[in-house]
Amino acid sequence: MARKKITVVGAGNVGATLVQRLAEMEVGDIVVVDIPEMEGMPAGKALDILESGPVYGYDSKVVGATDYEPTAGSDIVVITAGLPRKPGMSRDDLLKTNANIVKSVTLEAARKSPNSILIIVSNPLDAMCQVALKTSGFPKHRVIGMAGVLDSARMKTFLAEALNVSVDNVQTLVLGGHGDTMVPMTRFCTVAGVPVGELLPQDKLDAIIQRTRDGGAEIVKLLKTGSAYYAPSASVAEMVEAILKDKKKIMPCAAYLEGEYGIEGIFVGVPVKLGARGIEQILQLNLTVNERVALQKSSSAVKELCAALPA
Ligand code: LAC
Repeated sequence: MARKKITVVGAGNVGATLVQRLAEMEVGDIVVVDIPEMEGMPAGKALDILESGPVYGYDSKVVGATDYEPTAGSDIVVITAGLPRKPGMSRDDLLKTNANIVKSVTLEAARKSPNSILIIVSNPLDAMCQVALKTSGFPKHRVIGMAGVLDSARMKTFLAEALNVSVDNVQTLVLGGHGDTMVPMTRFCTVAGVPVGELLPQDKLDAIIQRTRDGGAEIVKLLKTGSAYYAPSASVAEMVEAILKDKKKIMPCAAYLEGEYGIEGIFVGVPVKLGARGIEQILQLNLTVNERVALQKSSSAVKELCAALPA
């Protein structure tokens, strides 16, 4: 069987860490691309990761480039390109700069890999997905945003810590936009099958919900020079694996909605089924009035951002 091919656009912290993870997972061969001004940098990181193969025991091929020629025929293209947040900045402050970057890289990547599945990581996430969908002209099931997996992983971390249990026991679900209005769905969060509401008092749960919403900013504040990349790259790697292995895995991802959850024409985080065709299904949960209102509020914030996108 021919090997799968994955392109990672952006050889910065998220991109390079993702390449390392994917190489170690042996899910396919990888091409990492950055801008011409970075000549040598992606090739250097790629070679360094390739040379870890004999030590770690993987045969994944890894190459770096500053043009899109080597990316041709990729099965998946992950777009991490863009500026990260600085302390005090919201994800939304990056809108215009990153929209232009995402537009130009999507154009080049989509031209070389017209049948690929795009996974978007650049912020503000939901708006950048919109840019990638429009620029690529790809069908909606082949443009997916990474956010819910990361936000849910952060919530799992905090719950496992609070209850002193294995992260393996914790299930969480965070929906909505990848911003301050994201919606941690406590009703669907369980520990070994037990609803978290039975295990933690409301004030503790509320604090965890807030810390989840601020999860990205907490890291930005600590790092001072950039934003998170270990957990974001781990989240993308899980999505890539679900697609390439056709796992039909249910994960919260940013998907283009056309009426689902009463939302129309924007990307918002919802539970989807990821398999070989990309988003194979959008799961429709029955929400309570409060949950519905929170999701609507979050989608309004995404709509506002999208309205501010450059034409
Ligand atoms: C975060 C950035 C990647 O949440 O959005 O850390």
